[in-house]
Parts: sequence; C-alpha cells; structure tokens
Amino acid sequence: MRGSERVLGSAIEAIGETPLVKLSRIARNLDGAILAKLDHLNPGFSKKDRIARQIIEDAEAQGSLKPGQTVVELTSGNTGTGLAIVCGVKGHPFVAVMSKGNSAERARMMSALGAEVILVDQMPDSRPGQVSGEDLKRVEEQAQRIVAERAAFRADQFRLAGNFRAHYLHTGPEILRQTGGALDAFCDFVGTGGTFAGCAAAFKEHNPSILCFIVEPEGAAVLAGKPVSDPSHRIQGGGYSMADLPLLRREHVDGYLQVSDERALTCARRLAREEGIFAGFSSGANVAAVLDLLRGRCKGKTIVVTVCDSGLKYLSTDLWA
Ligand SMILES: Cc1ncc(COP(=O)(O)O)c(C=O)c1O
Repeated sequence: MRGSERVLGSAIEAIGETPLVKLSRIARNLDGAILAKLDHLNPGFSKKDRIARQIIEDAEAQGSLKPGQTVVELTSGNTGTGLAIVCGVKGHPFVAVMSKGNSAERARMMSALGAEVILVDQMPDSRPGQVSGEDLKRVEEQAQRIVAERAAFRADQFRLAGNFRAHYLHTGPEILRQTGGALDAFCDFVGTGGTFAGCAAAFKEHNPSILCFIVEPEGAAVLAGKPVSDPSHRIQGGGYSMADLPLLRREHVDGYLQVSDERALTCARRLAREEGIFAGFSSGANVAAVLDLLRGRCKGKTIVVTVCDSGLKYLSTDLWA
C-alpha cells in the first residue's frame, strides 16, 4: 500500500492507492462528473504494476513460482515494466517478449529495470505503433518457446486470476472508498480485460446498478460483435480483436463504446493541457468514451475511468508532436 506517512519496505509497496481526480475542466460544459484514477503514478508509470505484483505474489503463495526462477511474459510494455520492478526486487530474472510495433521507450525502460527484452518483428503488412492481433500471435509463439527453453514461470496476463484479482481486490475497492460508493458508471479500454473484469466485479458486488462499459477501437470492436474493419489502430495496450478474453465476464457488461484513434489522441492531449494529467492513448480513449456517455445514456451521472499509463511512454510518437 502507498503510504506517505510511513517508510515502505520496497517499491512494490508503492504500487496502488493512486489518487482519484475530478476532471472539472474537460467536463465543464457537460451535465455530470468524470473521475480519473491516476494509475499512471504507479512506480512503473502504469496500472499494470498492480497485476505484476498480484500475479507474482499469487504464484509464490501457490508454489508455482520458485525462488530465483525465471519469469517470462508477453507484454505491450506496461505489464513487462511492472514485472521488471517486482521481479527485480524479489530476485527473479525476467524476460519481456514484445512486438516491435510498441514504442521504443517501453523496451528501454524494461531494460533499465533489469529485464531481458526480446523484440518480435511485426507482420509484413503491419505498421509501427499499430500492434494487431496477428502481431500478437507472433509474440505469443516466441513467449511460449522461451518459457519451454528456460523452464520459466509464465506470468500469463490473459489467463491468470492475479490480473483479475489485482483490480477486484484493490483498484475497484480503492475507487469505492474514494467516492464513498457514489459512482454511477465505469468505462474501460480493454486489452486483457483484467481491469474491466476486476473493477466491474467489485462495483457490481457493491451496487449492481453501477453501469460498466467496455471501450474498443472503432475498427476492431469484436467484443461488441462488430466485424473488424481495421485491426491496426494506435491505441496501444488493447483492442487486439480477440473475441474470447478468458478473464471477462459478459454478465457484467452493460454496453460497448467505440473510439477512433483521432478522438483518443485528442482526449489524451486535452487531459495533458486542460487537466495537467500526462497520459497515453488508451487513457484518452477512456475519456472520449466518457464524453459520449455524458452526452447520451449517462447524462448527469458520475463516471469513473482509469488513467492507464504515462504520456512519457509515447515521447517518440506523434502524440505530443
Ligand atoms: C496503456 C494500456 N491501456 C490499457 C490496457 C488494457 O488493460 P487491461 O489489460 O486490464 O484490459 C493496457 C494493458 O496492457 C495498457 O498497457
């Protein structure tokens, strides 16, 4: 737990307990409130630090991860950064397997934190900065090969309950505490679906009338059941055109929203300029989706979103050009 009033034992304890901030400027002409969970303030500058800690601590508790055993994971950079921090502190070698389509800052940061980073070529027709489901399949093949070669523990973020549990036990309950339970809706741009699934389960358990919405890229809204017209989009960290996400519970989904690259980008810039919150594309996508909700189905309501990662991770892209 983050605690300014005491000395923490390691950076792992500084994960979570992030602030919740009202976006009064972005919402100024709208009926309703946007509350943003500043998870880009975690030690690795993303919400995925939370799942790194939970997956590793769950595996240690279950005995599936032995002291000093190598950890491997497929990552768009954020889970890998979290794992590099947690594994570094706990003494596990960590191998991050990532598509070359993700921004270079991510690979550099993981290396700086002691990870071995293996970059996987994109498909011939893919573009840098746009990681498709097909690109991800290649990364998955490499990850599986390295796990077998090194008898490693796979910190499988798409399947392991630790991803769900991190948000069910912490992110969701933190938001409920910070709002006093006074929230009407939540929406989240989905990658593995861990954040959505964990928070939605915590919220619905507290009050089943809290509405939970999934956010997807406009041309790759497979969870909404739409055909994929453009699997390459710029919202890094999710929107992988995977219709079957093992951690997702459809009974907690109240609706699906789509956001274009342009709107995600515009809202990330608005977050920075108007609210002083320096975040990435997916946080912009979340804010764009909330604006749609406040103008439509959730007029007058209080809606929570996560600020998924830091804008520092996109300095090499044209997000801040
Ligand atoms: C920047 C960013 N946004 C959104 C997500 C999606 O979060 P989740 O995997 O919990 O659905 C991720 C996941 O890696 C991410 O890195």
